[in-house]
Amino acid sequence: MTISNGRGVRAALALLALLAVVAIRAHAEDGYDLWLRYRPIPDEALREHYKQVAAEVVAAATQPTQARPSTLAAATPPAQAQPSTLAAATPPTQAQPSTLAAATPRAQAQPSTLEGATPAAEARPSTLAVAQAELSRGLSGLLATSEPVSNMPTRDGSVIIGTPKSSPAVAKLNLPLAKAGSEGYLIRSTRYEGHHVTVIAANSDVGVLYGTFHFLRLIQTQQPIDTLDITEAPRLQHRILNHWDNLDRSVERGYAGESIWDWQKLPDYLDPRYTDYARACASLGINGTVPTNVNASPIGLTAPYLRKYAALANVFRPYGLRVYLTARFSAPIEIGGLKTADPLDPAVRAWWQTKVDEIYSLIPDFGGFVVKANSEGQPGPQDYHRTHAEGANMLAEVLAPHGGIIMWRAFVYSQQQPEDRAKQAYSEFVPLDGKFRNNVVVQVKNGPIDFQPREPFHPLFGAMPHTPLLLEVQITKEYLGFATHLVYLGPLFEETLRADTYAKGPNSPVSNSITGMAGVANIGSDRNWSGSIFDQANWYVFGRLAWNPTAASRDIAADWVKMTFTNDPAFVTPVVSMMMGSREAAVNYMTPLGLHHQMARTSHYGPGPWVTGGPRADWTSTYFNRADAQGIGFDRTATGSDAVAQYAQPVAAEFSDLQRVPDKYLLWFHHVPWDYKMRSGRTLWDELVIHYTTGVQSVSDMRKTWAALASYVDAERYQQISAFLGIQQQEAQWWRDASIAYFETFSKRPLPGGYAQPEHDLNYYESLCFPYAPGGAPRPKAKCD
Ligand code: GCU
Repeated sequence: MTISNGRGVRAALALLALLAVVAIRAHAEDGYDLWLRYRPIPDEALREHYKQVAAEVVAAATQPTQARPSTLAAATPPAQAQPSTLAAATPPTQAQPSTLAAATPRAQAQPSTLEGATPAAEARPSTLAVAQAELSRGLSGLLATSEPVSNMPTRDGSVIIGTPKSSPAVAKLNLPLAKAGSEGYLIRSTRYEGHHVTVIAANSDVGVLYGTFHFLRLIQTQQPIDTLDITEAPRLQHRILNHWDNLDRSVERGYAGESIWDWQKLPDYLDPRYTDYARACASLGINGTVPTNVNASPIGLTAPYLRKYAALANVFRPYGLRVYLTARFSAPIEIGGLKTADPLDPAVRAWWQTKVDEIYSLIPDFGGFVVKANSEGQPGPQDYHRTHAEGANMLAEVLAPHGGIIMWRAFVYSQQQPEDRAKQAYSEFVPLDGKFRNNVVVQVKNGPIDFQPREPFHPLFGAMPHTPLLLEVQITKEYLGFATHLVYLGPLFEETLRADTYAKGPNSPVSNSITGMAGVANIGSDRNWSGSIFDQANWYVFGRLAWNPTAASRDIAADWVKMTFTNDPAFVTPVVSMMMGSREAAVNYMTPLGLHHQMARTSHYGPGPWVTGGPRADWTSTYFNRADAQGIGFDRTATGSDAVAQYAQPVAAEFSDLQRVPDKYLLWFHHVPWDYKMRSGRTLWDELVIHYTTGVQSVSDMRKTWAALASYVDAERYQQISAFLGIQQQEAQWWRDASIAYFETFSKRPLPGGYAQPEHDLNYYESLCFPYAPGGAPRPKAKCD
């Protein structure tokens, strides 16, 4: 090749750089980069076009990280001042490091805190510096070039980021930022002093960061970026991940390795993964994290641990991610030496006051507590004959002066209570509506039982008009096959968010009755974060829906697929449709037609419709399936537990009427004879068998779909997904066969023609035992029953 002029040299260098990027990254497709891969856009013409529109990054440095907006009206102390590292954040060179970790701001050496010193908060980058570094990094990766960074726009194609306060250029543009609120942003194609520019502006630094991620997403998903006019603001205030991580690094219901929090090395060693975690959360607009399990250890509130959380909070702060903690209600006894944890006892209140002051001295923007009280054996105010409101309010009052909140969980049910478990939360909480302090948020699971593959929406939504509610969903797949089953949870979350509560007449979706979403995280120490590549999509869709609960899970899946794999429609279309059907497939092979809670005891790994006896009925499958010679299903109408009465009248009327109840909720609300004629014209028994079988067939179809896509995916990710789909198929078959083997002992009817008998007899399925299935809470002795 003869290089005859400067343009040729530049083109050749660009090509070399592109090859270098590709070469360096070829081995690195282990999923660590999540949806922030920033691989070069393969279509050269498109890449060149984007280079024209995004030719320069314009960011003016400011000093401190802005104070986060208060979560409630109460004043929030400003985040600690962070020195800007903008000057130091040089635009990445063309050869990108192979992992997220390598290019994010490095952890600083921290002084030892063994003796009780506060971990240093120094030397973290400012939020604007993070936004600028992200933009440079994203553009240089996607466009395989290195954009210059400047203080002021100097050419066509400048991308200006900032707030009116931080950026003279943004200020001069005089943009309509009111609608962006305190966390939103505006992205607009406009002109600045004769130049065609793009501006990413916000009222707050974190808004700029969120807008930057949005702009990069447009390029990652190959959208036009030359005539932009976007204003976005989060619809929900609280967008929070709940980690169920224990202090021994085990993760309750975690299937992605051990906890990412390396407690032993914190606070002195800050794993770069913490930065990458915060960065991934910020890319979705997640603004809070609870690093510890709701089944909380009191030790988690002792001084050494508070310093560990403070060190994490320092890492997270530039990304707009606030730390919250789980609080064990009896901590004043266990670590405070008091004789009681009665919330009305002045000594108890004083203990919490001192503890909260201590936390805020270390974490000035601490978010507040999550509390699981009087649930599944956890201590709580009822131990002292106080109500949930009295317990929550005491803590809320102590937190209020600091701007903190209480997220009080409504996942309560008691073994002393003979009432249908599905009814207990409503019965306990509705009478308390209006009795909570205004910095209490009641955290309600999506359905009234416990994160089942399908549940009707929780009757508390819409039923507590005077209390802010948070929707809690489970991102980790405790009841959906763990990490090896490909189940995209977007449709599940969407089904709840869109369910009509009729609280204010028709068109009162759950999404209108909440102020936030909490997601039980699926993140662990596995290199791919979530235990499988496709489980990353569940973290992703949680964040996107928490930002905009009216968004469509299909669109979100498409974005994720494009960012995670490729924009090629020949790949995107089948993969999105596979994802969209995957949840229904799991419902079918696990718990069709409204069945629920049919898994193995304790570990919840695999089928266990026969599980019965033991410490409490409402932890057994037979309690929920009620299978007998006549039929199957839980009568929750007026002739049974009357749980339907907890819904608004139009919903209750639909669910209680056998003619109108949707098939998907049939056995949730009704005990139905085996020969009951379904809408399809088939008997219930035949319909059940067909649903189980269809579920298995869907997984087999997913495998076929995936097998045809090998050429679009790097070998490492392709093979892992392929192997996991194989496991899923075996386990789907296991679910089907074991369930049919059990229920046919009651139905005593033949399988519909052409449907195979289970491979083994019932004894075989009942004898399977997996004492070391992952995800259980630490237990003294593994056992099966
Ligand atoms: C489920 C889960 C428990 C968890 C509980 C909760 O029951 O199996 O491990 O502690 O939910 O949400 O508190």
